[in-house]
Amino acid sequence: MCTTQIEAPKEVFAEKLLTMMNHGALALMTSIGHRTGLFDVLSRLEASTSHQIAEAAGLNERYVREWLGAMTVGGVVECHANGGAPQFYLPAERAAFLTRAAGADNLGVFAQYFSVLGSVEDRIVECFKNGGGVSYSEFKRFHEVMAEDSGQSVLSSLIDVILPIVPGLVAKLNTGIDVLDIGCGSGRALNLMARTFPNSRFVGYDFSEQAIQTARVEASATGLDNIWFDVRDLTTFDDDAPEGSFDFITTFDAIHDQARPDRVLAGIYKALKADGTYLMQDIAGSSHVHNNYDHPLGALLYTVSCMHCMTVSLAQGGMGLGAMWGKETAQTMLKQAGFNRIEIKHLDHDIQNCYYIIHKN
Ligand SMILES: C[S@@+](CC[C@H](N)C(=O)[O-])C[C@H]1O[C@@H](n2cnc3c(N)ncnc32)[C@H](O)[C@@H]1O
Repeated sequence: MCTTQIEAPKEVFAEKLLTMMNHGALALMTSIGHRTGLFDVLSRLEASTSHQIAEAAGLNERYVREWLGAMTVGGVVECHANGGAPQFYLPAERAAFLTRAAGADNLGVFAQYFSVLGSVEDRIVECFKNGGGVSYSEFKRFHEVMAEDSGQSVLSSLIDVILPIVPGLVAKLNTGIDVLDIGCGSGRALNLMARTFPNSRFVGYDFSEQAIQTARVEASATGLDNIWFDVRDLTTFDDDAPEGSFDFITTFDAIHDQARPDRVLAGIYKALKADGTYLMQDIAGSSHVHNNYDHPLGALLYTVSCMHCMTVSLAQGGMGLGAMWGKETAQTMLKQAGFNRIEIKHLDHDIQNCYYIIHKN
């Protein structure tokens, strides 16, 4: 049963709404701080004026000053104004979550999704009225931001943390096996695996020509000869999958927004060799909204789902599962695809996803 969490007085709710407005605005400014390099610059400077910060960043001072205003009253940047021009600085413990040096902890990367989603708001409103969906190609900068996001959430821990959760896998990759990444996007995970395990062979499928082109450029720039990327629509993958061809198949955040996740999962089952393993990284959450109250990213993930994951699937005439399809639905669909041995792990570095280790037999 779905019940509201707490009966809060009217004033408390009004305050919550005001906080929400301020935080929404800060999220947009955080994205700009990341894209312009302002957080990186601030983290290297002592307390400085807006002119000094703008000069160090190579940016227009008037815009930098206004951005500093939002960041200061929003509690991100600190400011001293002892009679002279205000001086701004970013404390190290905050820079640890906002700069490129922060690596996987840099939430500035994630903040970019708000403007990516905002770029299609008009179209989403139309869909609320008329149904249908917004296609991948209508989003500005989606693949760029997604590649940067997976650079953090996947790449930073892929070799040392993620792959070792599959028993015996790293040894097999060192010896030489066949690996497929479905919905590989810009191919960063696959390229990293191909560099790390030169005896294995790697194939990536995605229907985005732009993303596959980026993936191929990275592969050829690093001189890899054990990797292949194909532009491929996976909607009928249960029919098209090459039977019994891969020892290990991965999907990183790439099942729930497919047109037909059911057919993709059935295709993965078919494409695996008899002793093959499938590793599915997908959104952590329950299929039931009332189980998601305490989800640390719940509202964010339902929003990303509504304005991206669900709508891109519906735009393909698909099922529109959405990012919050949840563990219950995921396990039911995996079983319907033929998989019976399913283990779910949560990894400390990644509160957004869970990791399904799935054996064909
Ligand atoms: C959320 S992104 C994840 C990309 C990548 N795995 C990563 O972690 O960066 C999902 C990917 O699925 C791809 N995709 C969606 N529908 C598809 C379809 N019908 N056929 C092939 N690829 C599809 C998209 O182009 C996108 O690159």
